[in-house]
Amino acid sequence: MREVRVDLGDRGYAVYIGRGSLGEIGGIALRHGLPKRAGLFTNPELVDPYAERVLNSLRDAGFDPWLCLIPSGDEHKSLEEASRIYGEMLENRMDRKSAVIALGGGMVGDLAGFVAATYMRGIPFVQVPTTLLAQVDASIGGKVAVNHPKAKNLIGAFHQPRFVLIDPETLKTLPERDLKAGMAEVIKHGLIMDRELFEMVESELEGILSLDMPLLEEVIARSCADKARVVERDEKESGLRAILNYGHTVGHAIEAATGYERFRHGEAVSIGMVCAGRISLRRGMMTEGEFARMRELLERTGLPVDFPDDLDPHLVLKLIRHDKKVKAGRLNFILLEGIGRARIVDDVSEEEILESMRG
Ligand SMILES: NC(=O)c1ccc[n+]([C@@H]2O[C@H](COP(=O)([O-])OP(=O)(O)OC[C@H]3O[C@@H](n4cnc5c(N)ncnc54)[C@H](O)[C@@H]3O)[C@@H](O)[C@H]2O)c1
Ligand SMILES: [Zn+2]
Repeated sequence: MREVRVDLGDRGYAVYIGRGSLGEIGGIALRHGLPKRAGLFTNPELVDPYAERVLNSLRDAGFDPWLCLIPSGDEHKSLEEASRIYGEMLENRMDRKSAVIALGGGMVGDLAGFVAATYMRGIPFVQVPTTLLAQVDASIGGKVAVNHPKAKNLIGAFHQPRFVLIDPETLKTLPERDLKAGMAEVIKHGLIMDRELFEMVESELEGILSLDMPLLEEVIARSCADKARVVERDEKESGLRAILNYGHTVGHAIEAATGYERFRHGEAVSIGMVCAGRISLRRGMMTEGEFARMRELLERTGLPVDFPDDLDPHLVLKLIRHDKKVKAGRLNFILLEGIGRARIVDDVSEEEILESMRG
């Protein structure tokens, strides 16, 4: 079992990564002194393959778990659903000395985490991410939230988990498209801060995509460690943590412009990373060769890299402007200084953004 530390003083925690580790959660929870009464939050389709094993392991270790089912889909990451869950928690005798365990993708993690952060002013919570996106990104860093009809993730909190447990074997049932979308965040970590990780993905991509487990463990651990280093230095996103948004300014706007249906998050971010890379290239911060390497790796992964022909760059720009307004009028843009190094700038012009989408 690999272990990555997220060093946040008394809020610090371990991220465990190991094949088959789902069946070991009881022992780990015991070592961490997790409360005995624990709600296991998951999607119905994850009960048979994974939740049963987690429940058994918890029971064997002397825990008293109950199952809380959350319907799949980001539309259920809402205050209404949170409210329904609070009621279910009360009925199931959850008090301040109980814990929430989130088993699933980022949707379950964000919603269960939000509920844990707010129920009785906050109770302990554990993340057991089962999508690649959640394993390398969403489960680490303590951002929890629900959506509002007018904006994604508008209502949220920072609530760090007690520990994170990652079993890469769970990726075997994940649709290939989601695996590839998750790889966009891994490649992002390489681009913004970890050239070695980028090069590892470059040389081992086929093995990773065919779910070579030792390889996956290494890539996931490395990616988690990268995110942990950023979160440790800027837990509440007052500065540095923004580099994790590389490719996300244009990416989020593409997702919104296409109604959150056409692209997976990672796919939109892939296109956004190419756009941001192009701005870096035109500013002379990145060479042609490095830009081509980035684009090629994303393309080889099976991710889209070209701004869609049928999408109006002006509409996307409008959405970026709207986003900027929501974020108090500042448009911080993340650019690359070559592969492995990011820089936050605040002077990217609308013309540069438009040009980057035109290719
Ligand atoms: N908190 C953060 O820092 C952060 C970061 C990035 C994304 N997010 C959030 O994460 C969410 C997206 O997460 P996601 O991409 O993991 O999608 P998801 O959680 O919506 O899961 C997608 C589908 O895959 C299923 N699934 C999960 N694991 C599976 C497995 N191993 N095998 C088969 N099916 C499986 C789920 O049941 C669901 O139906 C969004 O709500 C986004 O806002 C949060
Ligand atoms: Zn992302």
